[in-house]
Amino acid sequence: MDEVKAKIFRYDPSQDREPRYEAYSIPWRDRTTLLEVLRYVYEHYEPIAFRYGCRSMLCGRCGVELNGKPVLACMTFVEPGDIEVEPLRGFPIIRDLVIDRTKAELRSFEGSPQLLRAKPPEEEPEKLPSQAVSRCMDLLKCRTCYLCQAACPMVEAAQDNTVGPAIMSRNIALRAYDPRDEGDRLTEAIDEGLWYCSNCANCKEVCPREIDIPAIVIEDLRAMAVERGLTNPAHKRFASSIKENHNPYREAHEDRLRWADGLNVSNEAETMFFVGCTSAYRRQEIAKSTVKILREADVEFGIPKDERCCGSPILRAGYRDLAKEMVEHGAQALKEAGAKRVICSCAGCYKTLKLEWPKLVGELPFEVIHMSQYLVDLVRNGKIALREVKGKVTYHDPCHLGRHCGVYDEPREVLKSIPGIEFVEMNPNRENSLCCGAGGGVEAALPDTAIKTAISALEKVRETRAKLLVSTYPFCKTNFLDAIAESGEKLEVCDLTELIVKSMRS
Ligand code: FES
Repeated sequence: MDEVKAKIFRYDPSQDREPRYEAYSIPWRDRTTLLEVLRYVYEHYEPIAFRYGCRSMLCGRCGVELNGKPVLACMTFVEPGDIEVEPLRGFPIIRDLVIDRTKAELRSFEGSPQLLRAKPPEEEPEKLPSQAVSRCMDLLKCRTCYLCQAACPMVEAAQDNTVGPAIMSRNIALRAYDPRDEGDRLTEAIDEGLWYCSNCANCKEVCPREIDIPAIVIEDLRAMAVERGLTNPAHKRFASSIKENHNPYREAHEDRLRWADGLNVSNEAETMFFVGCTSAYRRQEIAKSTVKILREADVEFGIPKDERCCGSPILRAGYRDLAKEMVEHGAQALKEAGAKRVICSCAGCYKTLKLEWPKLVGELPFEVIHMSQYLVDLVRNGKIALREVKGKVTYHDPCHLGRHCGVYDEPREVLKSIPGIEFVEMNPNRENSLCCGAGGGVEAALPDTAIKTAISALEKVRETRAKLLVSTYPFCKTNFLDAIAESGEKLEVCDLTELIVKSMRS
């Protein structure tokens, strides 16, 4: 008979000096849930402590971590083989898998969680605009299971400065979107950590109700704050630079293509390379590597003559009008250049062009492709010859490419196609991958928090014993390099395109 071999966290703070793990074997049948596994252990081995209630995803009480991922035990099926079960991280332990939620619950009573209203309704019975009702109802799908809280890298890195996604969503955003509420919810949101979100989407990934917290809580609250002039100073600086210079780095717009001097790149083609601000000004090695690969593969390509910021940093920070200007210009420029496909080597640009440009300017007349996807085709069709590069390599899934866009397989396929590379997975990976901490305006506004988050992700790289960390997002590369400089970690970091160029040359 198939079995589940469960390693379960055990700890009774009233008598144990430290936690331990105990192993149990549980008979497996099709659609065995994690809750059934826990119950079997309770009934057949020893009375481990765990919580549950409705057994149908309604009460939110049965949250635990399965192999490092926060899940609801009642709704999670397990497969035969080894599993590890732990309590949700970041909470005090009452016993075994039972966490003490009191501090979080009490935090939700701080401020003014009730509706604040002095003015009487203008009409009786009062009607709320349907848009406000539906926004609030989206948030009320939350069962306060706190899976998002356990999954949030910023709660881990800056616990004292942010209430985290659950309370930001259930308490603050809910009131901010209610037209009857007269409280100053935006100031409350800022005081409670609105700028401490790296847009990693791990909260959305683990949410059993699939609430899009990064979009409908964080970005919407930030946009409302910007409209009211409650801006973050660092975000305001990069937004005004984007307005004046069309890049967030306060660099001259006319220098945007300086890295391509002498390369004789066309400005019109069916295949266009959208470079992005970070590669154009800060990580030019990635822009140059992309061009080398396209040339090696005999791809006829161009770069827009007047490329401007894709809008990603200002969309994350809430500057929606300015972002729309950038997007309108970018889409028009690519259309005029005759683009049928647009390649991005930056995961942030890719996510923005692919998912957000169509929302702002309608259907695009071109396909948007990430360079890792394009590379798969080049490698499969023998358009580039890869020679041996020896080394143990791991890959970091950037949040914008992975969780936001679902691109996981292509970078791995490309890496594995390089002869001599020993590819090793970091754990966690793919949809559970750790955020580097730089996105969502965090690197600009809270650089120490961004580096602290990246240092904690580097611990997982160290466990792989890889000597090289490969990324597909120039912004992650920079943050990891900063974290390495800060921590003294012995590790190289490069973009996938750079490794491919190395393999082409070897
Ligand atoms: S027992 Fe209620 S959500 Fe799992």
